[in-house]
Amino acid sequence: MKRSIVTIEDLTNQEILNLFKQADKYLDANEDEATHRLRRSFDDAHNRIAATLFFEPSTRTRLSFETAMFRLGGQVISCADPKTSSSDKGESLADTIRVVQTYADLIILRHPSEGAARVADEYADVPVINAGDGGHEHPTQTLCDLYTLYREKKELANLNVLVSGDLKNGRTVHSLVYALARFGAHIILAPAKGFELPMHVAQRLEHEYNSVPLGRDSVKDLPDHVDVVYITPQEPHSTALITVKVDLSNIDVYYVTRLQTERLKNSRSGAAFPVIDKSFLQGDRYSDTRVMHPLPRVRELGYDLDKDPRGAYFQQTAYGVPIRMALIAALLRVQPLLERATQTPKYDVYLSTPEGIRCTNKNCILKNEAERRHLTPKMWIVDPAQANLFQPVILRCIYCEYDYKPTAIFDKRSGTRTSSVDTWRTIPTESRVFCDSEPTHKRRKAKKGTATIATPDTLKA
Ligand code: NCD
Repeated sequence: MKRSIVTIEDLTNQEILNLFKQADKYLDANEDEATHRLRRSFDDAHNRIAATLFFEPSTRTRLSFETAMFRLGGQVISCADPKTSSSDKGESLADTIRVVQTYADLIILRHPSEGAARVADEYADVPVINAGDGGHEHPTQTLCDLYTLYREKKELANLNVLVSGDLKNGRTVHSLVYALARFGAHIILAPAKGFELPMHVAQRLEHEYNSVPLGRDSVKDLPDHVDVVYITPQEPHSTALITVKVDLSNIDVYYVTRLQTERLKNSRSGAAFPVIDKSFLQGDRYSDTRVMHPLPRVRELGYDLDKDPRGAYFQQTAYGVPIRMALIAALLRVQPLLERATQTPKYDVYLSTPEGIRCTNKNCILKNEAERRHLTPKMWIVDPAQANLFQPVILRCIYCEYDYKPTAIFDKRSGTRTSSVDTWRTIPTESRVFCDSEPTHKRRKAKKGTATIATPDTLKA
Protein backbone atom coordinates (compact mmCIF):
# COMPACT_ATOMS: atom_id res chain seq x y z
CA MET A 1 0.00 0.00 0.00
CA LYS A 2 1.46 3.33 -1.00
CA ARG A 3 0.54 6.94 -1.48
CA SER A 4 2.08 9.15 -4.15
CA ILE A 5 1.89 12.91 -4.68
CA VAL A 6 1.26 13.54 -8.35
CA THR A 7 -0.96 16.61 -7.97
CA ILE A 8 -1.84 18.82 -5.03
CA GLU A 9 -5.25 17.13 -5.11
CA ASP A 10 -3.51 14.01 -3.77
CA LEU A 11 -3.30 15.62 -0.33
CA THR A 12 -6.32 16.64 1.74
CA ASN A 13 -6.30 19.99 3.54
CA GLN A 14 -5.92 18.16 6.85
CA GLU A 15 -2.92 16.23 5.53
CA ILE A 16 -1.31 19.49 4.38
CA LEU A 17 -1.85 20.93 7.86
CA ASN A 18 -0.34 17.75 9.36
CA LEU A 19 2.73 18.26 7.16
CA PHE A 20 3.02 21.86 8.40
CA LYS A 21 2.96 20.68 12.02
CA GLN A 22 5.60 18.06 11.32
CA ALA A 23 7.78 20.59 9.44
CA ASP A 24 7.44 22.87 12.47
CA LYS A 25 8.74 20.04 14.66
CA TYR A 26 11.82 19.72 12.45
CA LEU A 27 12.31 23.46 12.24
CA ASP A 28 11.35 24.96 15.58
CA ALA A 29 14.35 25.60 17.79
CA ASN A 30 16.59 24.46 14.93
CA GLU A 31 16.06 27.35 12.55
CA ASP A 32 18.87 29.74 11.81
CA GLU A 33 16.80 32.90 12.03
CA ALA A 34 18.88 34.87 9.57
CA THR A 35 18.78 32.31 6.77
CA HIS A 36 15.77 30.18 7.82
CA ARG A 37 18.04 27.21 7.38
CA LEU A 38 17.47 24.02 9.34
CA ARG A 39 20.57 23.33 11.44
CA ARG A 40 20.31 19.73 12.61
CA SER A 41 19.50 16.24 11.42
CA PHE A 42 17.04 13.52 12.51
CA ASP A 43 16.83 9.78 11.93
CA ASP A 44 13.27 9.30 10.66
CA ALA A 45 14.44 7.92 7.31
CA HIS A 46 17.41 5.95 8.61
CA ASN A 47 18.32 3.11 6.20
CA ARG A 48 15.94 4.41 3.51
CA ILE A 49 16.93 5.43 0.00
CA ALA A 50 15.30 8.04 -2.22
CA ALA A 51 15.94 8.18 -5.98
CA THR A 52 15.86 11.64 -7.55
CA LEU A 53 15.28 11.39 -11.31
CA PHE A 54 15.44 14.79 -12.95
CA PHE A 55 14.90 14.94 -16.70
CA GLU A 56 14.71 18.77 -16.63
CA PRO A 57 17.04 21.33 -15.00
CA SER A 58 16.65 21.97 -11.28
CA THR A 59 18.59 23.56 -8.45
CA ARG A 60 16.23 24.09 -5.51
CA THR A 61 13.82 21.21 -5.92
CA ARG A 62 16.36 18.44 -6.36
CA LEU A 63 18.88 19.75 -3.83
CA SER A 64 16.24 20.49 -1.19
CA PHE A 65 14.76 16.99 -1.61
CA GLU A 66 18.21 15.47 -1.31
CA THR A 67 19.02 17.66 1.71
CA ALA A 68 15.69 16.67 3.24
CA MET A 69 16.51 12.98 2.80
CA PHE A 70 19.98 13.41 4.32
CA ARG A 71 18.57 15.52 7.18
CA LEU A 72 16.22 12.60 7.91
CA GLY A 73 19.18 10.22 8.09
CA GLY A 74 18.39 8.63 4.73
CA GLN A 75 20.39 8.30 1.54
CA VAL A 76 19.97 9.37 -2.05
CA ILE A 77 20.70 7.98 -5.51
CA SER A 78 20.38 10.56 -8.22
CA CYS A 79 20.13 11.01 -11.93
CA ALA A 80 20.32 14.73 -12.51
CA ASP A 81 21.07 14.75 -16.21
CA PRO A 82 18.92 12.83 -18.70
CA LYS A 83 21.97 12.56 -20.98
CA THR A 84 23.54 10.19 -18.46
CA SER A 85 20.52 7.90 -18.18
CA SER A 86 19.13 5.24 -20.49
CA SER A 87 16.26 7.52 -21.48
CA ASP A 88 18.83 9.01 -23.85
CA LYS A 89 19.03 5.59 -25.54
CA GLY A 90 15.25 5.57 -26.02
CA GLU A 91 14.21 3.75 -22.85
CA SER A 92 10.64 4.49 -21.81
CA LEU A 93 9.94 6.25 -18.53
CA ALA A 94 7.89 3.23 -17.52
CA ASP A 95 10.93 0.92 -17.84
CA THR A 96 13.20 3.38 -16.03
CA ILE A 97 10.72 3.50 -13.15
CA ARG A 98 10.34 -0.30 -13.03
CA VAL A 99 14.09 -0.52 -12.59
CA VAL A 100 14.62 2.34 -10.15
CA GLN A 101 11.84 1.18 -7.84
CA THR A 102 13.88 -1.96 -7.18
CA TYR A 103 16.72 0.25 -5.88
CA ALA A 104 14.89 2.89 -3.86
CA ASP A 105 12.10 3.30 -1.29
CA LEU A 106 10.83 6.51 -2.84
CA ILE A 107 11.07 8.11 -6.30
CA ILE A 108 11.17 11.86 -6.88
CA LEU A 109 10.66 12.69 -10.54
CA ARG A 110 10.89 15.80 -12.70
CA HIS A 111 10.05 15.43 -16.37
CA PRO A 112 9.20 17.70 -19.33
CA SER A 113 6.01 15.81 -20.27
CA GLU A 114 2.69 16.56 -18.62
CA GLY A 115 1.46 13.48 -16.81
CA ALA A 116 4.88 11.83 -16.47
CA ALA A 117 4.52 11.49 -12.70
CA ARG A 118 1.17 9.72 -13.16
CA VAL A 119 2.88 7.21 -15.45
CA ALA A 120 5.64 6.71 -12.89
CA ASP A 121 3.04 6.15 -10.20
CA GLU A 122 1.31 3.52 -12.34
CA TYR A 123 4.54 1.56 -12.72
CA ALA A 124 6.09 1.96 -9.26
CA ASP A 125 5.37 -0.04 -6.13
CA VAL A 126 7.03 2.69 -4.08
CA PRO A 127 5.69 6.23 -3.54
CA VAL A 128 6.33 8.72 -6.32
CA ILE A 129 6.62 12.47 -5.80
CA ASN A 130 6.01 14.78 -8.72
CA ALA A 131 8.79 17.38 -8.71
CA GLY A 132 7.27 19.11 -11.76
CA ASP A 133 5.83 17.52 -14.91
CA GLY A 134 5.98 19.88 -17.89
CA GLY A 135 3.50 22.73 -17.54
CA HIS A 136 1.08 20.59 -15.53
CA GLU A 137 1.73 20.73 -11.76
CA HIS A 138 4.43 21.13 -9.14
CA PRO A 139 2.68 20.15 -5.91
CA THR A 140 5.69 20.23 -3.60
CA GLN A 141 6.52 23.80 -4.62
CA THR A 142 2.98 24.59 -3.50
CA LEU A 143 3.73 22.94 -0.15
CA CYS A 144 6.75 25.28 0.20
CA ASP A 145 4.59 28.25 -0.78
CA LEU A 146 1.76 27.41 1.60
CA TYR A 147 4.13 26.55 4.43
CA THR A 148 5.82 29.94 4.06
CA LEU A 149 2.40 31.63 4.20
CA TYR A 150 1.41 29.54 7.20
CA ARG A 151 4.63 30.46 9.05
CA GLU A 152 4.18 34.12 8.17
CA LYS A 153 0.42 34.57 8.43
CA LYS A 154 -0.79 31.52 10.45
CA GLU A 155 -4.08 31.41 8.51
CA LEU A 156 -4.62 30.91 4.77
CA ALA A 157 -8.35 31.71 4.56
CA ASN A 158 -9.23 35.17 3.24
CA LEU A 159 -5.64 36.08 2.35
CA ASN A 160 -5.35 38.26 -0.77
CA VAL A 161 -2.82 36.45 -2.95
CA LEU A 162 -1.86 38.14 -6.21
CA VAL A 163 -0.28 35.79 -8.76
CA SER A 164 1.59 37.37 -11.67
CA GLY A 165 3.66 36.41 -14.69
CA ASP A 166 3.33 33.29 -16.81
CA LEU A 167 0.14 31.73 -15.51
CA LYS A 168 -0.30 29.73 -18.68
CA ASN A 169 2.84 27.59 -18.56
CA GLY A 170 3.82 27.96 -14.90
CA ARG A 171 3.21 24.59 -13.24
CA THR A 172 3.79 26.08 -9.79
CA VAL A 173 0.85 28.42 -10.41
CA HIS A 174 -1.53 25.62 -11.37
CA SER A 175 -0.96 23.64 -8.16
CA LEU A 176 -0.96 26.85 -6.11
CA VAL A 177 -4.30 28.26 -7.27
CA TYR A 178 -6.12 24.98 -6.58
CA ALA A 179 -4.65 24.85 -3.07
CA LEU A 180 -5.38 28.52 -2.34
CA ALA A 181 -9.01 28.00 -3.37
CA ARG A 182 -9.29 24.94 -1.14
CA PHE A 183 -8.02 26.93 1.83
CA GLY A 184 -10.36 29.83 1.08
CA ALA A 185 -7.80 32.43 -0.01
CA HIS A 186 -8.68 35.07 -2.61
CA ILE A 187 -6.73 34.61 -5.83
CA ILE A 188 -5.97 37.76 -7.79
CA LEU A 189 -4.65 37.06 -11.25
CA ALA A 190 -2.28 39.45 -13.02
CA PRO A 191 -0.97 37.47 -15.99
CA ALA A 192 1.45 38.89 -18.54
CA LYS A 193 -0.51 39.55 -21.72
CA GLY A 194 -1.03 36.27 -23.58
CA PHE A 195 -0.04 34.19 -20.54
CA GLU A 196 -3.41 33.87 -18.82
CA LEU A 197 -4.41 30.81 -16.78
CA PRO A 198 -5.34 27.94 -19.15
CA MET A 199 -9.09 27.64 -19.66
CA HIS A 200 -9.27 24.15 -18.13
CA VAL A 201 -7.51 25.34 -14.96
CA ALA A 202 -9.78 28.40 -14.66
CA GLN A 203 -12.90 26.30 -15.18
CA ARG A 204 -11.78 23.73 -12.65
CA LEU A 205 -11.20 26.47 -10.08
CA GLU A 206 -14.73 27.63 -10.61
CA HIS A 207 -16.57 24.34 -10.89
CA GLU A 208 -14.65 22.07 -8.57
CA TYR A 209 -13.27 24.44 -5.97
CA ASN A 210 -16.28 26.70 -5.87
CA SER A 211 -14.25 29.81 -6.65
CA VAL A 212 -16.20 32.75 -8.01
CA PRO A 213 -14.43 34.80 -10.71
CA LEU A 214 -15.09 38.54 -10.45
CA GLY A 215 -13.95 40.99 -13.11
CA ARG A 216 -13.49 44.75 -13.29
CA ASP A 217 -17.26 45.37 -13.26
CA SER A 218 -17.75 43.69 -9.88
CA VAL A 219 -14.67 44.74 -7.92
CA LYS A 220 -14.14 48.29 -6.80
CA ASP A 221 -10.55 49.50 -6.88
CA LEU A 222 -9.11 46.61 -8.90
CA PRO A 223 -5.43 47.37 -9.68
CA ASP A 224 -4.92 48.20 -13.37
CA HIS A 225 -2.81 45.19 -14.22
CA VAL A 226 -5.22 42.70 -12.63
CA ASP A 227 -7.47 40.56 -14.82
CA VAL A 228 -9.77 38.75 -12.45
CA VAL A 229 -10.23 37.93 -8.76
CA TYR A 230 -11.32 34.47 -7.61
CA ILE A 231 -13.13 34.51 -4.31
CA THR A 232 -13.67 31.20 -2.56
CA PRO A 233 -16.31 31.57 0.11
CA GLN A 234 -16.30 28.98 2.86
CA GLU A 235 -20.08 29.04 3.17
CA PRO A 236 -22.98 29.06 0.68
CA HIS A 237 -23.02 32.44 -0.97
CA SER A 238 -24.59 34.74 -3.47
CA THR A 239 -22.34 36.61 -5.89
CA ALA A 240 -23.86 39.93 -4.80
CA LEU A 241 -22.76 39.38 -1.20
CA ILE A 242 -19.31 38.35 -2.29
CA THR A 243 -18.88 41.47 -4.41
CA VAL A 244 -19.57 43.62 -1.38
CA LYS A 245 -16.96 41.71 0.64
CA VAL A 246 -14.09 42.05 -1.85
CA ASP A 247 -11.50 44.34 -0.37
CA LEU A 248 -8.22 44.65 -2.20
CA SER A 249 -6.86 47.56 -0.22
CA ASN A 250 -4.21 45.20 1.19
CA ILE A 251 -2.40 42.57 -0.88
CA ASP A 252 -1.03 39.94 1.52
CA VAL A 253 1.12 38.11 -1.02
CA TYR A 254 2.55 39.04 -4.40
CA TYR A 255 3.54 35.75 -6.06
CA VAL A 256 5.81 36.47 -9.03
CA THR A 257 6.69 33.91 -11.72
CA ARG A 258 9.11 33.98 -14.62
CA LEU A 259 8.32 33.50 -18.28
CA GLN A 260 8.64 29.74 -18.90
CA THR A 261 10.77 30.14 -22.05
CA GLU A 262 11.49 26.41 -22.21
CA ARG A 263 7.78 25.81 -22.94
CA LEU A 264 7.50 28.44 -25.68
CA LYS A 265 7.99 27.83 -29.36
CA ASN A 266 8.90 31.44 -29.94
CA SER A 267 10.94 32.78 -27.03
CA ARG A 268 10.44 36.35 -28.25
CA SER A 269 6.82 36.23 -27.16
CA GLY A 270 6.33 37.72 -23.73
CA ALA A 271 8.74 40.58 -24.36
CA ALA A 272 6.42 42.89 -22.36
CA PHE A 273 6.69 40.83 -19.19
CA PRO A 274 6.12 42.97 -16.06
CA VAL A 275 8.97 43.61 -13.58
CA ILE A 276 8.08 43.63 -9.89
CA ASP A 277 10.48 45.76 -7.87
CA LYS A 278 10.44 48.40 -5.14
CA SER A 279 9.15 51.15 -7.38
CA PHE A 280 6.33 48.90 -8.63
CA LEU A 281 5.29 48.04 -5.09
CA GLN A 282 4.67 51.58 -3.91
CA GLY A 283 1.53 52.60 -2.09
CA ASP A 284 -0.46 51.40 0.91
CA ARG A 285 -1.82 48.34 -0.88
CA TYR A 286 1.66 46.79 -0.91
CA SER A 287 3.07 48.16 2.36
CA ASP A 288 2.69 44.83 4.20
CA THR A 289 2.90 42.49 1.19
CA ARG A 290 5.10 39.37 1.20
CA VAL A 291 6.77 38.99 -2.20
CA MET A 292 7.19 35.36 -3.15
CA HIS A 293 8.69 33.62 -6.19
CA PRO A 294 9.36 29.91 -6.75
CA LEU A 295 12.73 30.94 -8.32
CA PRO A 296 14.79 30.99 -10.46
CA ARG A 297 14.21 34.65 -11.25
CA VAL A 298 15.27 36.16 -14.53
CA ARG A 299 14.15 39.75 -15.11
CA GLU A 300 10.67 39.78 -13.56
CA LEU A 301 11.77 40.32 -9.94
CA GLY A 302 14.01 43.23 -8.89
CA TYR A 303 17.16 42.58 -6.85
CA ASP A 304 16.27 45.69 -4.84
CA LEU A 305 13.65 43.60 -3.00
CA ASP A 306 16.27 41.17 -1.61
CA LYS A 307 16.99 43.32 1.44
CA ASP A 308 13.44 44.68 1.66
CA PRO A 309 11.52 43.08 4.58
CA ARG A 310 8.74 42.25 2.11
CA GLY A 311 10.94 39.87 0.07
CA ALA A 312 10.17 36.32 1.27
CA TYR A 313 11.53 34.21 -1.61
CA PHE A 314 14.76 33.01 0.00
CA GLN A 315 12.83 32.09 3.11
CA GLN A 316 10.36 30.22 0.87
CA THR A 317 13.19 28.24 -0.68
CA ALA A 318 14.77 27.45 2.71
CA TYR A 319 11.42 26.14 3.98
CA GLY A 320 11.56 23.64 1.11
CA VAL A 321 13.76 21.48 3.34
CA PRO A 322 11.56 21.00 6.45
CA ILE A 323 8.35 20.71 4.45
CA ARG A 324 9.88 18.14 2.08
CA MET A 325 11.24 16.27 5.12
CA ALA A 326 7.70 16.12 6.45
CA LEU A 327 6.39 14.86 3.10
CA ILE A 328 9.07 12.16 2.87
CA ALA A 329 8.37 11.08 6.47
CA ALA A 330 4.67 10.90 5.63
CA LEU A 331 5.08 8.83 2.46
CA LEU A 332 7.60 6.47 4.04
CA ARG A 333 5.06 6.05 6.88
CA VAL A 334 7.56 6.91 9.56
CA GLN A 335 5.25 9.66 10.79
CA PRO A 336 1.46 9.18 10.90
CA LEU A 337 0.53 12.25 8.85
CA LEU A 338 -1.70 10.79 6.15
CA GLU A 339 -5.41 10.28 6.70
CA ARG A 340 -5.78 7.46 4.14
CA ALA A 341 -3.52 4.50 3.43
CA THR A 342 -4.21 4.50 -0.32
CA GLN A 343 -5.49 6.96 -2.86
CA THR A 344 -9.08 6.20 -3.80
CA PRO A 345 -9.97 7.52 -7.25
CA LYS A 346 -12.61 10.24 -7.14
CA TYR A 347 -14.10 9.47 -10.54
CA ASP A 348 -14.88 6.57 -12.89
CA VAL A 349 -12.33 5.80 -15.57
CA TYR A 350 -13.07 5.90 -19.30
CA LEU A 351 -10.73 4.00 -21.62
CA SER A 352 -10.49 6.17 -24.74
CA THR A 353 -11.29 4.33 -27.95
CA PRO A 354 -9.98 5.39 -31.37
CA GLU A 355 -13.50 6.41 -32.39
CA GLY A 356 -14.20 8.69 -29.45
CA ILE A 357 -12.59 11.64 -27.68
CA ARG A 358 -8.85 11.34 -27.04
CA CYS A 359 -6.39 13.67 -25.40
CA THR A 360 -5.03 16.14 -27.94
CA ASN A 361 -2.58 18.00 -25.68
CA LYS A 362 0.71 17.83 -27.54
CA ASN A 363 2.69 18.05 -24.30
CA CYS A 364 0.89 15.10 -22.74
CA ILE A 365 3.06 12.08 -21.93
CA LEU A 366 0.70 10.11 -24.20
CA LYS A 367 2.35 11.85 -27.16
CA ASN A 368 5.80 10.66 -26.15
CA GLU A 369 7.08 8.12 -28.66
CA ALA A 370 8.53 5.67 -26.11
CA GLU A 371 5.44 5.76 -23.87
CA ARG A 372 2.87 5.42 -26.67
CA ARG A 373 3.89 1.80 -27.11
CA HIS A 374 2.63 0.80 -23.66
CA LEU A 375 0.22 3.46 -22.40
CA THR A 376 -3.55 3.16 -22.77
CA PRO A 377 -5.20 6.57 -23.12
CA LYS A 378 -7.52 6.96 -20.15
CA MET A 379 -9.78 9.71 -18.89
CA TRP A 380 -11.64 10.48 -15.71
CA ILE A 381 -15.36 10.98 -16.13
CA VAL A 382 -15.66 14.06 -13.99
CA ASP A 383 -19.03 13.68 -12.38
CA PRO A 384 -21.09 16.87 -12.72
CA ALA A 385 -22.93 16.03 -9.51
CA GLN A 386 -19.62 16.61 -7.73
CA ALA A 387 -18.66 19.54 -9.89
CA ASN A 388 -21.52 21.80 -10.83
CA LEU A 389 -25.05 20.99 -11.92
CA PHE A 390 -24.81 23.30 -14.90
CA GLN A 391 -21.57 21.80 -16.17
CA PRO A 392 -21.89 19.00 -18.70
CA VAL A 393 -19.92 15.78 -18.19
CA ILE A 394 -16.23 16.46 -18.49
CA LEU A 395 -13.59 13.97 -19.56
CA ARG A 396 -10.21 14.65 -18.01
CA CYS A 397 -7.04 13.02 -19.34
CA ILE A 398 -5.71 11.00 -16.41
CA TYR A 399 -2.17 12.06 -17.26
CA CYS A 400 -2.05 15.75 -18.23
CA GLU A 401 -5.51 16.62 -16.81
CA TYR A 402 -6.66 18.51 -19.88
CA ASP A 403 -10.46 18.62 -19.98
CA TYR A 404 -12.70 17.65 -22.87
CA LYS A 405 -16.42 18.16 -23.20
CA PRO A 406 -18.19 15.33 -24.99
CA THR A 407 -21.31 16.32 -26.87
CA ALA A 408 -22.56 12.80 -27.61
CA ILE A 409 -22.33 9.29 -26.25
CA PHE A 410 -22.45 6.14 -28.34
CA ASP A 411 -23.60 2.78 -26.97
CA LYS A 412 -21.73 0.01 -28.80
CA ARG A 413 -24.24 -2.67 -27.68
CA SER A 414 -27.31 -1.07 -29.16
CA GLY A 415 -25.58 1.03 -31.81
CA THR A 416 -27.42 4.09 -30.56
CA ARG A 417 -26.03 7.53 -30.06
CA THR A 418 -27.48 10.30 -28.00
CA SER A 419 -26.51 13.86 -27.26
CA SER A 420 -27.56 13.62 -23.61
CA VAL A 421 -24.18 12.56 -22.29
CA ASP A 422 -25.68 12.40 -18.80
CA THR A 423 -26.90 8.90 -19.68
CA TRP A 424 -23.33 7.55 -19.46
CA ARG A 425 -24.07 5.73 -16.22
CA THR A 426 -26.70 3.55 -17.89
CA ILE A 427 -24.23 2.31 -20.53
CA PRO A 428 -21.83 -0.45 -19.41
CA THR A 429 -18.22 0.66 -19.26
CA GLU A 430 -17.05 -1.52 -22.16
CA SER A 431 -19.82 -0.21 -24.46
CA ARG A 432 -19.34 3.52 -23.88
CA VAL A 433 -17.86 5.79 -26.50
CA PHE A 434 -17.81 9.49 -25.68
CA CYS A 435 -17.73 11.59 -28.85
CA ASP A 436 -17.49 15.26 -29.60
CA SER A 437 -19.14 15.29 -32.98
CA GLU A 438 -22.82 14.55 -32.96
CA PRO A 439 -23.54 16.38 -36.25
CA THR A 440 -20.85 14.43 -38.12
CA HIS A 441 -22.33 11.22 -36.88
CA LYS A 442 -25.83 12.22 -37.88
CA ARG A 443 -24.62 13.03 -41.38
CA ARG A 444 -22.96 9.64 -41.60
CA LYS A 445 -25.98 7.87 -40.22
CA ALA A 446 -28.33 9.59 -42.63
CA LYS A 447 -26.15 8.55 -45.56
CA LYS A 448 -25.73 4.90 -44.63
CA GLY A 449 -29.06 4.42 -42.91
CA THR A 450 -27.48 2.70 -39.89
CA ALA A 451 -25.88 3.90 -36.70
CA THR A 452 -22.15 3.35 -36.94
CA ILE A 453 -19.25 4.70 -34.99
CA ALA A 454 -17.71 7.81 -36.49
CA THR A 455 -14.05 7.24 -37.39
CA PRO A 456 -11.40 9.82 -36.59
CA ASP A 457 -11.49 10.79 -40.27
CA THR A 458 -15.19 11.46 -40.29
CA LEU A 459 -14.88 13.37 -37.03
CA LYS A 460 -12.34 15.66 -38.64
CA ALA A 461 -14.49 16.16 -41.75
C1 NCD B 1 9.87 26.20 -10.68
C2 NCD B 1 9.68 25.06 -11.66
O1 NCD B 1 10.60 24.30 -11.93
O2 NCD B 1 8.55 24.95 -12.14
N1 NCD B 1 11.12 26.17 -10.02
C3 NCD B 1 11.21 25.47 -8.86
O3 NCD B 1 10.99 24.28 -8.80
N2 NCD B 1 11.51 26.15 -7.74
C4 NCD B 1 9.58 27.54 -11.28
C5 NCD B 1 10.34 27.94 -12.50
O4 NCD B 1 11.23 27.24 -12.98
O5 NCD B 1 10.04 29.02 -12.99
